[in-house]
Amino acid sequence: MGFREEIKEARGIRDEAESTVTTIMHDVRMGKSLVKERMEKTVDNIVRSIFRNRDAITSLANLKRYDAYTFTHCVNVSIFSIALGRHLGLRREDLFKLGVGAILHDIGKMLIPEGLLNKPGAYNEAELSLMKQHALLGADFLSAARFIALESIHAAGEHHERYDGSGYPAGLAGETIHFFARITGIADVYDAMTSNRIYQKAIMPTDTLKFMYTRRKIHFGPELVEKFIQCMGIYPIGSLVELSNGDIGLIKSVNRSDLIHPMVSVVLDRHKRPCRRPLDIDLATENKRRIIKAVDPEIYAVTVESINP
Ligand SMILES: [Fe+2]
Repeated sequence: MGFREEIKEARGIRDEAESTVTTIMHDVRMGKSLVKERMEKTVDNIVRSIFRNRDAITSLANLKRYDAYTFTHCVNVSIFSIALGRHLGLRREDLFKLGVGAILHDIGKMLIPEGLLNKPGAYNEAELSLMKQHALLGADFLSAARFIALESIHAAGEHHERYDGSGYPAGLAGETIHFFARITGIADVYDAMTSNRIYQKAIMPTDTLKFMYTRRKIHFGPELVEKFIQCMGIYPIGSLVELSNGDIGLIKSVNRSDLIHPMVSVVLDRHKRPCRRPLDIDLATENKRRIIKAVDPEIYAVTVESINP
């Protein structure tokens, strides 16, 4: 299905998913158990949307809404995890298990006293160690539900483990961290960094990916981070970007050794007038201009044909 047709569908799925997560989280806080059907239908809908067109629901997850961070975040982590899983070639049933673990990754937070969870300012050491319990509490809660697959429980229980062993709760390292937990961890960090929160302003997706890339050996493993950047395709070949001096460029090719500094072909100048002869710039070596945002190609009616051959 095309991007435009899927986007309408995806918007409905995203809104429904947020309402499902809100209900689940409130239920858990009230001491109720997890309801299987609605949660499974929600994840299945996300998986289906990504199979029809992976860019539609992912682009919605990138267009942040700032009202209810926690619940939007759970849905976004599920969307980004499933998108990455699909990019890695996981089977549909595995994507479903991954999506369930990802959408419920922070469910353990509902078992932590609300006063602590919403405490303004920094945590002291004792509070921090209690907060860190949420991964384990979540995994225990999901195990007790009985219908949750073991892979989903791993994703929730290990999403704060880090590749170099610096994470929590168990300090697992490398491949001993469940693969689904590593995917969920990447999606969690990406969405958290690119969202506005009380104590942190949103960071541009490009800068977030750049940060994650520099930490690739420490946090998630280099291969998976590279796959995530490829998958997100923030600046895919043929898309338009605005440069810091106002020029509009088309992504001409991706530098494999430096994925967030592609080669662009400047097709419109800073006044948005067509360049007579498009100028190619390698952003890996260019230090005067950088990409500031992706722009809608329909606004400028530029096509891939404009690239300097
Ligand atoms: Fe978490």
